[in-house]
Amino acid sequence: MKNYLFGNWKMNMNGAEIDRFFHDLASSFPEKSETVMAIFPPFVYLERTVRLAKSMGVADKLSIGVQNVHEADKGAYTGEISVEMALDCGAEYSLIGHSERRHVFGESEERIAAKVNACCSRGLRTVLCVGETLEERDRGVTWETVERQLKSGLSGDKIQSDSILVAYEPVWAIGTGRSASPEDAQEVCGAIRKWLSGRFAGATVPILYGGSVKPDNSESLFSMTDIDGGLVGGASLDPGSFLYMVR
Ligand code: 13P
Repeated sequence: MKNYLFGNWKMNMNGAEIDRFFHDLASSFPEKSETVMAIFPPFVYLERTVRLAKSMGVADKLSIGVQNVHEADKGAYTGEISVEMALDCGAEYSLIGHSERRHVFGESEERIAAKVNACCSRGLRTVLCVGETLEERDRGVTWETVERQLKSGLSGDKIQSDSILVAYEPVWAIGTGRSASPEDAQEVCGAIRKWLSGRFAGATVPILYGGSVKPDNSESLFSMTDIDGGLVGGASLDPGSFLYMVR
């Protein structure tokens, strides 16, 4: 199984900051790395980021992804972008069902399933994000919640195991500085692994953990059996931290 380090920049970084990030990243980029890396910048900087990755000589190791797409091919959807547009700009991955899309923007399970299906139908590799709220954890329904999100998110008719990654991101751990303990994260990721082996017999779908991953806790989280890498928010904005976690 490969290792993964994905950086979700959310609504951060402007053009000058992105230029500086790539300049600094390239200056200490590892010659050899087994880690699959990707950065998810805001839409408007997709092409700039793809161009920078190429010109800085890191594009063969570091992919670019989109933080969201619309499920329709095209049409009257003001403010949205299609899978085709993301691919056209050089995206190789998408993030679907991120907790901020679910809980801040109110995306439904049905919409998330449609988006995952749209990405898979066009060959855009998709990170399906799942995770419980604090209230759900306290009520003891963590697994029911995650299982429901997996079942629904992967229910489309175009889903292919080699286009899917799953990120377990407990909502209460995102941006709070309060990461899940490695053991708690492993417990859920182990259950996700088991569920995925039933859904995709014979295939191995990568499982990432996200939620306050930083240089000082990444090693203990990534050493867990069923955690294949991280989906990192805040700490991915700094090239030094990003590369530390890659190593
Ligand atoms: P933080 O690493 O900032 O907690 O964000 C996690 C996340 O939401 C990644 O998608």
